[in-house]
Amino acid sequence: MKYKHVVITRPGGPEVLQMVEDELPDPKPGEVQVKVLATGVAFTDVMMREGVYPGVPKLPYSPGYDIVGVVEKLGAGVTQVQVGQQVAALTIVGGYSEYVCLPASEVVPVPAGLDPVEAVSLVLHYVTAYQMLHRIAKVKPGEKVLIHGAAGGVGTALLELGDLAGLQMYGTASQAKHGIVTRLGGTPIDYKTENVRDRLLQLTGDGVDVVFDALGGRSLLDSYRLLRHGGRLVSYGFLSAFRGRHPSQMAIASSFLYLGLLKLIPDGKQVSFYAIASCKQQHPDWFRADLTTLFQLLAEGKIRPIVAGRLPLAHAKFAHQLLDQSVTQGNLVLICHA
Ligand SMILES: NC(=O)c1ccc[n+]([C@@H]2O[C@H](COP(=O)([O-])OP(=O)(O)OC[C@H]3O[C@@H](n4cnc5c(N)ncnc54)[C@H](OP(=O)(O)O)[C@@H]3O)[C@@H](O)[C@H]2O)c1
Repeated sequence: MKYKHVVITRPGGPEVLQMVEDELPDPKPGEVQVKVLATGVAFTDVMMREGVYPGVPKLPYSPGYDIVGVVEKLGAGVTQVQVGQQVAALTIVGGYSEYVCLPASEVVPVPAGLDPVEAVSLVLHYVTAYQMLHRIAKVKPGEKVLIHGAAGGVGTALLELGDLAGLQMYGTASQAKHGIVTRLGGTPIDYKTENVRDRLLQLTGDGVDVVFDALGGRSLLDSYRLLRHGGRLVSYGFLSAFRGRHPSQMAIASSFLYLGLLKLIPDGKQVSFYAIASCKQQHPDWFRADLTTLFQLLAEGKIRPIVAGRLPLAHAKFAHQLLDQSVTQGNLVLICHA
């Protein structure tokens, strides 16, 4: 049987994505074959497409950081998962596909009745937000937080989960996206027309307890200076390296230099870099527990991910154009089987 998947053919813009057809492999011992219903399109996929994401397979390969699908076949020795069960996984690569084979130990059950598109939005964006809030920054009700890129996939997840945690939230976003930041409980700051530091100090008096920084580079220094005594800076992205078409490796490397220097300052502030893949590797139990908690919150109607669009797998190029132009709000999802 043949299956279709979208591969990155070479580093570059959305045009390097191509749909190909291959022979569908059977699951190996210990694996499950999953029919993919939905896969997220995230900024990390853009980094892979541009060739600046570490630790990926040799080209050509399929991007796709997360999936929700239905188990179709079991490899030898798999007993903990059933055929027909709806499951989710943090695949890191491979999600832009009609089918994937994964170790059975990697899949997390999705409660019956959940929309696969909403469910897949939780796997990368909401687990990232949840772990940064509760595992890294360990936020407390009433604390003030600044969220950069507040209208994006991770940003909207931070706002929704931050509201549940009783935080006072401020979020940078371009003017057209202020409505969503306000609706999710944040105070928007237009980083394109306002001085973020001045505006935040005007709003808070003395800064914030936590900054979630998706920008990297020199922004880390500004974020650090906005922290009150005992504050925490959580860095997790390099959006500032992507000004214009071609991302700068130097800008990404400079973020780690800044973080290293900031960690040396003995002033009671805490600096961390969060990466979901390494966090999952170190604490696989956290990932499973946190995703299960998030599915429960979705099933109870306590969270409702913003879905910017549901596009067919064949429209992966268009989805990347939308992300490149920064016109989406929340989560963009590819439907791999109608
Ligand atoms: N470390 C991890 O484990 C992890 C996990 C997931 C994602 N990430 C990273 O997190 C970042 C966000 O990912 P995402 O999927 O949420 O991306 P996204 O959906 O594309 O959202 C990014 C948002 O940032 C805004 N933005 C861009 N430049 C900005 C600036 N200078 N100041 C403030 N806002 C700006 C964009 O909208 P406007 O400019 O129009 O406001 C957009 O809404 C990416 O760098 C991604 O690689 C890291």
